[in-house]
Amino acid sequence: ERKSRKMVIGVSQCSDDAWRDKMNMEMLHETALHSNIELIVLSANDNNEQQIQHIQQLIDQKVDLLIISPNEAAPLTPVVEKAYDLGFPVLLVDRKILSDRYTAFIGADNYAIGQEVGTYVSTVLGRAGTVLEIKGLEGSTPAIDRNQGFYSTTSRFPDLKVVESFDAEWSEDIAYEKTLAFLNSQKRVDLIFAHNDRMASGAFKAAKELGIQDSIAFVGIDALPGEDGGIEKVLEKELTATFIYPTGGDRIIQLALKILNDETYEKNNPLVTAVVDFTNARVLKLQSDEILDQRDKIDYFNTRIDVFTSQYAMQQYLLYSAIAI
Ligand code: FRU
Repeated sequence: ERKSRKMVIGVSQCSDDAWRDKMNMEMLHETALHSNIELIVLSANDNNEQQIQHIQQLIDQKVDLLIISPNEAAPLTPVVEKAYDLGFPVLLVDRKILSDRYTAFIGADNYAIGQEVGTYVSTVLGRAGTVLEIKGLEGSTPAIDRNQGFYSTTSRFPDLKVVESFDAEWSEDIAYEKTLAFLNSQKRVDLIFAHNDRMASGAFKAAKELGIQDSIAFVGIDALPGEDGGIEKVLEKELTATFIYPTGGDRIIQLALKILNDETYEKNNPLVTAVVDFTNARVLKLQSDEILDQRDKIDYFNTRIDVFTSQYAMQQYLLYSAIAI
């Protein structure tokens, strides 16, 4: 029954930002390759209540599958479990809940990323120095895992000290305010590790305002391509390094289709990460710019095809009405 009609996939995103835009765009492009699926995307603006409502709404709509990136794990766990217990296939992406009552997960391993950052930072600082850690939203699993992975590595070096660690909720503005307050109280560090590039940017702005940005190394996560993305920030030497946090939108839809078509799939589907620093940023920028160019051309061709199709339909119509007369 399922396969004979169009299947609806409901997406509940926790946030709205450049990283989410990239993921949503990839999901829409992948969806366009399959005529039997349709996507509904809802964004909850970092608000747990709003996201709970969105998921309830998608349950009521009886979508065929749910793709969810839970804002904070604890408040979102009950509604995700509820959907799963009602029999909806639930695909978690990027962020997790507190139990394993979901169909599958796809995303990078944030604990491993935290460890990699820890190793990188200890190398940059020669195993000795001071660090400020700016964490992502406290109750979201990437923030918890990045923090723990980072500590599991840095704690092995007694002369490497994380002197302060605060939560900036994934937000550039909050990171800016809190870093400015930290630096204004005469505290100094050798390196600032922010759990994403947006917060690293906020911290950089605060340091720049005090004219001390060159005495601090900045490390982030995400490494988005394009304007204002992490790759360019590395080239501009604002960031010493950032780590690719893959959005994987196309992979997400492919996995959703496997689940819907009763094909075999893994419950855990890891996406890989890699460090971006001055040694490889130029190559990555060249390649990602080319991909962005190709994307634009495909979008352009798609609109041209739409125009041609409707022109053709109109000509057929005129032709047949002429014959009828
Ligand atoms: C995007 C984002 C990224 C971060 C991820 C963690 O919404 O804030 O910057 O890496 O979420 O879930």
